[in-house]
Amino acid sequence: MAGGVFILGREVEAFEEEWARFCGVRGAAGVNSGTDALSLALIASGAVRQRRQDEVITSPLTTAYTALAILNAGGVPVFADIDPQTYTLDASAVERVITPRTRAIMPVHLYGQMADMPSLCEVAARHGLTVIEDAAQAHGARIEGKRAGALAHAAAFSFYPTKNLGACGDGGAVTSDDVALIECVKTLRQGGHAPAFLAGVEGRNSRLDEMQAALLRVKLQYLEKWNERRRSLARIYDETLRHGRALQLPSARAPQSHVYHLYVAQHPRRDRLRSHLAAHGIETLIHYPFLLHQQRLFQRPEQGALPVAEDVAGKIISLPLHPYLTEEEAREVADKILHFES
Ligand SMILES: Cc1ncc(COP(=O)(O)O)c(C=O)c1O
Repeated sequence: MAGGVFILGREVEAFEEEWARFCGVRGAAGVNSGTDALSLALIASGAVRQRRQDEVITSPLTTAYTALAILNAGGVPVFADIDPQTYTLDASAVERVITPRTRAIMPVHLYGQMADMPSLCEVAARHGLTVIEDAAQAHGARIEGKRAGALAHAAAFSFYPTKNLGACGDGGAVTSDDVALIECVKTLRQGGHAPAFLAGVEGRNSRLDEMQAALLRVKLQYLEKWNERRRSLARIYDETLRHGRALQLPSARAPQSHVYHLYVAQHPRRDRLRSHLAAHGIETLIHYPFLLHQQRLFQRPEQGALPVAEDVAGKIISLPLHPYLTEEEAREVADKILHFES
């Protein structure tokens, strides 16, 4: 506060450098949310052009903000089915919904689990498509030696307070190896700034403030430790619930590929299990209660059924998990689930 600069100042610049270094990319641009990070990455990469009805393929099992970001950019969200083990986009299902209007694929690293980036990037390369990672739930996750944020043309992060790296308010960032793309996001985030509108660029107001950047710089130092803590709590659930009869546990594509933003299992009697846990004072949630391809806002006549996502949606249950949950608490949750199953 004594510095007297509150928006897009030295703290934001320093955080952008540190976040780019952490992700292993050449640049990062701070913006005001994960939704704007996705949308500006789609525009700055050239994947979605204004008023052209460009199609972007994504997952039906994610927050509505993923698809809203595509609409906000001026594109059309198209949904493909998911893999039942990892809950992330299935590359062969993606390939089946590609049309001449498809311009990009937006995989979501859901619940902290990396999508199958090698297969998705291979499909994208064959069809000349841009790939934008929705890494809002996967800060620090790694696959094949690379971190989320460094696996595609660009990636978007959210720093919503509950994320693995969360601010004390809203925030987001785009990361990319393409320095011109990052510079373009920096122009677009200040659409009312003379250089942008005089050049005829249709930007918006999406700035990261200094307070959030300063707080994120401090919290970034703990991110690896917190992710490790999330993994060790997930191991407790994995080990104790392995013998559950009907419970299907989440699986990690590779040990470091999951940062357990959420621990999401499946149970055929999910709602009764939730009531049983609630009766013991244990809160669970459903991420997400609605599949996006079934929502009026995103419906299109061409959209087919997505049987895997539709099957999984009725069974998913998010168990309590955050870095400050104690091991005893995790064991107690597991005990109550085993009790329900016995
Ligand atoms: C997967 C995913 N994508 C996008 C977003 C949007 O981020 P924000 O809430 O910062 O706009 C979120 C978080 O809400 C998210 O979890």
